[in-house]
Amino acid sequence: MAFKVELCAEADMARAFEIISEAFGHDLPYIDATFPSHPTTAGRAIGTSRLIDMMKNDPCTTFVKVVDTETGLMIAQAKWNIYKDTIPEEKDLDGDFWVNEDEKRYAQLLYRQWLIPRRKAIRESGGNLFSLDLLTVDPKYQRRGAGRLLVKWGTSQADKLGLKCVVESTDPGFGLYKSEGFEHCGVWETELPDEWKESRRKAKFVWMVREPQPGQQWLASRCLRKY
Ligand SMILES: CC(C)(COP(=O)(O)OP(=O)(O)OC[C@H]1O[C@@H](n2cnc3c(N)ncnc32)[C@H](O)[C@@H]1OP(=O)(O)O)[C@@H](O)C(=O)NCCC(=O)NCCS
Repeated sequence: MAFKVELCAEADMARAFEIISEAFGHDLPYIDATFPSHPTTAGRAIGTSRLIDMMKNDPCTTFVKVVDTETGLMIAQAKWNIYKDTIPEEKDLDGDFWVNEDEKRYAQLLYRQWLIPRRKAIRESGGNLFSLDLLTVDPKYQRRGAGRLLVKWGTSQADKLGLKCVVESTDPGFGLYKSEGFEHCGVWETELPDEWKESRRKAKFVWMVREPQPGQQWLASRCLRKY
């Protein structure tokens, strides 16, 4: 199986969201809350349009994909946020994607708390940072190196620029990030107000930071690998 890494086009966003939805399933409260009903047809249509909106309107966002060259199928996606002398405005999560105000408030709470270490890191870097925001591989294609290709796509550029990379790691992602030079810098868990303590799930991740590694440069254009 040979894979190649390419930048995503707008037409790839439906497949990108399908991969995100299938790879996370219901494992992450953060994804379930911020992309409500993501496994449904309606939820996927909204998720796709939100990704397109990010792609078009956030100049710091780059969507990258892995394609199986034998079938032409997109099998993985990553959203890298690349900040170069840019500290973005800290916007809240908003919209009319939720069935009621309570669901929206819960999503906003998780979103604000999820972004605390990332926003701090962006500020402390003076707006010079690589943040791996979303990384997912189609479950049918996992453990074949696609995730690693998308991590290296960003880290190799960060190394050339001498910039740090950060990621909010899930359990499945941890070993991959660790082996690519990210370090465990603490576990983050959402604080829930009393009204939700019994009824709602907390979000949790390992905050990981990778220092630039001069000499570890890797060319995305040469990423064709056989498995
Ligand atoms: C995490 C994920 C992106 C890894 O992508 P992948 O293409 O399967 O990973 P790779 O084949 O490049 O694997 C690299 C290494 O990561 C680790 N790894 C990958 N999947 C893992 C899993 N499910 N559990 C534990 N470790 C895992 C292993 O160390 C693996 O190396 P090995 O196969 O030689 O043991 C993918 O499993 C996924 O989409 N998971 C669900 C969504 C998710 O948690 N994304 C990370 C968000 S931070």
